[in-house]
Amino acid sequence: FVGVKLGILGLGTVGTGTVQLLQDAVGRHPLLEEVEIYRVGVRSPDKPRAVELPQSAITTDLAAIVNDPAVDIVVEVMGGLEPARSLILQAIKNGKHVVTANKAAISRFGAEIFNAANEAGVYVMLEAAVGGGIPVIQPLKQALSVNRIHTVIGIVNGTTNYILTRMQTEGSDFSDVLADAQRLGYAEADPTADVDGLDAADKIAILASLGFGGRINLQDVYCEGIRQVSKTDINYAEKLGFVIKLLAIAKYQNKANSQLSVRVHPTFVPKAHPLASINGVYNAILVEGEPIGQVMFFGPGAGAGATASAVTSDILNLVAALKSNSAVPNPLLSCRHEDYCQVTP
Ligand code: NAP
Ligand code: HSE
Repeated sequence: FVGVKLGILGLGTVGTGTVQLLQDAVGRHPLLEEVEIYRVGVRSPDKPRAVELPQSAITTDLAAIVNDPAVDIVVEVMGGLEPARSLILQAIKNGKHVVTANKAAISRFGAEIFNAANEAGVYVMLEAAVGGGIPVIQPLKQALSVNRIHTVIGIVNGTTNYILTRMQTEGSDFSDVLADAQRLGYAEADPTADVDGLDAADKIAILASLGFGGRINLQDVYCEGIRQVSKTDINYAEKLGFVIKLLAIAKYQNKANSQLSVRVHPTFVPKAHPLASINGVYNAILVEGEPIGQVMFFGPGAGAGATASAVTSDILNLVAALKSNSAVPNPLLSCRHEDYCQVTP
């Protein structure tokens, strides 16, 4: 074992946070010394960056990174559907392991990506794709795997929770707070995905796929964002003992025929409910199953540092597995990929 070379696609909020963490945490984790930031792909090579990298490591030729025989792990933190999907597939075809934070690509192309990974005998890791820094993907797939999950319900978008919290606690205007969420690096490149609930829909589709063991067709996910939520709605909710949260919900509609309801919408949440007190950029995912009962995952749902923590944990898990020649459970691999869950539209 001679260490691992990373090819990182993207040096925005998450890419920069990850490079920074990989550089700063050396000494904190023994395997970090085995990791080399070898190439980094960007769109604008002359943009000022918050991290120091040799200019020779930076390229605009992302295909060259995924085709470079020296690269062991491709870290896809560029976002979007294309060229992210093609680059991930090409990396897999070339025998590289992949770490991605891209829920939009995984929720749509997960089956194609994981089937390709299975065929090539490589791993695709996606801890950062849901819940920012919260470890939820691996726990759901591993520690809870023996349970029969019947509900996954959560606040899975940091931007909208940040907006709703500030509208509620400070009476702030939607557009001002959205601008702050963008400045803080919480929002997607196109914040419509956050505000209209599409990002949360991608995430609940991934969580439901893991929890319920089948594919979720995104078109079956009812999706309504927070654009229509006014200060008046928030004030009425408050007077009635509720808070308004954008919830992502996947649950059995009908246990007899295994029909699922998967949906995202603003919801009146009673103040005593555990999800009511999740504020700001924080996310929480409440999982109910048998025999475990209720488990809640809670933590920062977006932002450079939190997301870098999840990306880096995937990288280090991969390095540990490669070094010891052992297997990493491929999160979505054991889903019955041929089967779609029945979702009530
Ligand atoms: P971002 O700040 O917009 O960064 C995107 C990076 O990718 C930039 O460095 C950009 O290059 C590069 N890039 C994008 N398209 C490219 C192309 N076609 N060719 C070359 N380079 C390209 O995005 P982000 O917030 O870091 O998000 C990245 C991914 O992480 C997304 O999938 C997002 O959903 C996911 N994610 C984000 C967060 C968060 O808190 N932000 C949390 C969890 C997951 P330039 O810098 O040159 O423009
Ligand atoms: N835009 C996303 C959010 C980033 O606000 O939750 C984390 O996935």
